[in-house]
Amino acid sequence: MTQFNILAQSAAPQALADLLNMAFGPGRLARTAERLREGNHRITAYDRVAISGDGRLKGAISFWPVRVHQTAGLLLGPLAVHPDMQGQGVGQALMQDALAAIDVTRFAFTVLVGDLPYYQKAGFGVASAAISLPGPVDPQRLLLRPSAAQDATLCAELAGMVRRAPELC
Ligand SMILES: CC(C)(COP(=O)(O)OP(=O)(O)OC[C@H]1O[C@@H](n2cnc3c(N)ncnc32)[C@H](O)[C@@H]1OP(=O)(O)O)[C@@H](O)C(=O)NCCC(=O)NCCS
Repeated sequence: MTQFNILAQSAAPQALADLLNMAFGPGRLARTAERLREGNHRITAYDRVAISGDGRLKGAISFWPVRVHQTAGLLLGPLAVHPDMQGQGVGQALMQDALAAIDVTRFAFTVLVGDLPYYQKAGFGVASAAISLPGPVDPQRLLLRPSAAQDATLCAELAGMVRRAPELC
């Protein structure tokens, strides 16, 4: 196992671009979730990076403000871990660190498009069928996590399209 540290900071732009290209390959920017990032700004306070003992960027996660009607939330992603560090807990550690900070903020939920078996470990479940994204998405991959216990009821009642919300930055 390679040692790593999770830091509350943003990755250098070029190192981040290299990591994302390596983890996702081409086609990343064509995804529906990308429509919520265009014209939006990530909230850098929730950026987290994983750095190996020799100082290299091995993982990164970021969050973008969105809303369903007036309820403020966040879009998680991209989450990427360098291929040579996958399967060592880096992805879950990045999520846990960021979500702990998000749980005590005004953002009532976090949403993402991804695989339930992976993200349910971090508290995500399949979003209600009443929630949609601005583009096609497999409903079983549209996942949502209420930020705190008191947000669970609110999230269960959410209905409408998830829209980008750069005004919440
Ligand atoms: C998906 C990704 C972020 C996971 O990060 P990671 O650091 O390798 O994951 P962790 O070490 O925290 O967790 C590993 C566990 O999750 C499982 N897992 C990984 N990807 C999974 C997936 N897509 N679906 C279900 N389980 C998955 C592994 O099998 C492993 O299970 P185990 O603990 O029972 O052995 C990483 O593999 C990655 O960057 N992939 C390419 C980019 C990508 O697909 N990002 C997510 C977009 S939704």
